Amino acid sequence: MAIVPNPYKTTGFLGWIDDRFPLTKLWKDHLSEYYAPKNFNFWYYFGSLALLVLVNQLLTGIWLVMHYKPDAAVAWDSVEYIMRDVPYGNILRYLHSTGASAFFVVVFLHMYRGLLYGSYRKPRELVWLFGALIFLVLMAEAFCGYVLPWGNMSYWGANVIINLFGTIPVIGPDLVVWIQGDYFPSDATLGRLFSLHVIFLPFVLVALVVAHLIALHEVGSNNPDGVEIKKHKDPKTGIPLDGIAFHPYYTVKDVVGVGVFLIIFLGIVFFAPDGGGWLLEKPNFTPANPLATPEHITPAWYFGSFYAMLRATPSIAGSALPGVIVMFGGVAVLFLVPWLDRSPVKSIRYKGKLSKIALALFTIAFVLLSYYGMQPPSPAGTLISQIGTIVYFAFFFLMPFYTKLEKTKPEPERVTHAAH
Ligand code: HEM
Repeated sequence: MAIVPNPYKTTGFLGWIDDRFPLTKLWKDHLSEYYAPKNFNFWYYFGSLALLVLVNQLLTGIWLVMHYKPDAAVAWDSVEYIMRDVPYGNILRYLHSTGASAFFVVVFLHMYRGLLYGSYRKPRELVWLFGALIFLVLMAEAFCGYVLPWGNMSYWGANVIINLFGTIPVIGPDLVVWIQGDYFPSDATLGRLFSLHVIFLPFVLVALVVAHLIALHEVGSNNPDGVEIKKHKDPKTGIPLDGIAFHPYYTVKDVVGVGVFLIIFLGIVFFAPDGGGWLLEKPNFTPANPLATPEHITPAWYFGSFYAMLRATPSIAGSALPGVIVMFGGVAVLFLVPWLDRSPVKSIRYKGKLSKIALALFTIAFVLLSYYGMQPPSPAGTLISQIGTIVYFAFFFLMPFYTKLEKTKPEPERVTHAAH
């Protein structure tokens, strides 16, 4: 049967493939003829770095699963075996455990770039929403992974987090037993968290990342000026005048980001993998012990901000439900951002003073919340966390007002860019 020749006129082996699979089309649409604004800056490194860290987690995870045993009786020993006996097992484990922290560093900076330049605004609402879903799944993934070594902080962390579901009225207590498969974290709990961590959540994560990028390439990238480059196209070629081909220009630029990232990341993996207790907490160097609660149960640093919100919210009639609502609200509010910003301009460069002050206060509040979420409770810590929580939510819920009220600078027609 005759085949209709592919429109790219490729021949040989590539032609044979292109007649049957859109390889050249995919390459052109997403790389060599995907036109990205020419003024990307430092903040635009973190998307490709997030991809790099994702691949690192998937690959090192596959190798860890070859030696890890999801059985409460031997899980801890299997991790010790990886650390001591498996060739390069210690590096493999640290690439994965420090990789989790790197993932959050990169993703936080990537999201912050979105806030800086209004990358969530029309027509990129779905790019942002897929991103917010990725963040939610990433948190679930990190939580499940943290439990797997079955260290003492794994055990008690799982205990605290799963019991949060117990605050839900009526069904709460039964829900906790259903989630755990037992009355306390046990072998049944470890088995299901393992299954979620290695199969379901990575699968969802990868699917969401693909959706994230398809949505982005449909509408095109934003940039530090927040100017739509599709408004000015070359009349002959239809290529945006301020656009440059993603490949080779940004693939080469991203290599620089990858190089700097690897120097820092591998420096930590090789020389300070536990980050002095900040990346791997000390109680997790002893096996799970249901009879010995760690002195302070603190979450990993990347959950600090949300945990601080939970602790800062007063209970009502002995129930921590308000804190749980506030904590989940801290993530849920991200889904509203595209509709909260009413500014006539996208980028912080052209927004007014109020937006700049709001973003600065939000940044300080987030850092303080992250810090105090990891500290033992104290009156000063509680007060700072309460103020931080109010500032965090005010940044979002007052956005429709301050972005509308303030005087903005005129947005340029074309992107601003000094060649170097
Ligand atoms: C596994 C995690 C993620 C990966 C691998 C990923 C990957 C990427 C990549 C490769 C880009 C294009 C390059 C760039 O603009 O930097 C991008 C753009 C974008 N991402 Fe993500 N992302 C992730 C998580 C998130 C999250 C959590 C959010 C927000 C909640 C988000 C929001 C955005 C936005 C708004 C853009 C468009 C930025 C612009 O055009 O200015 N992403 N992402």
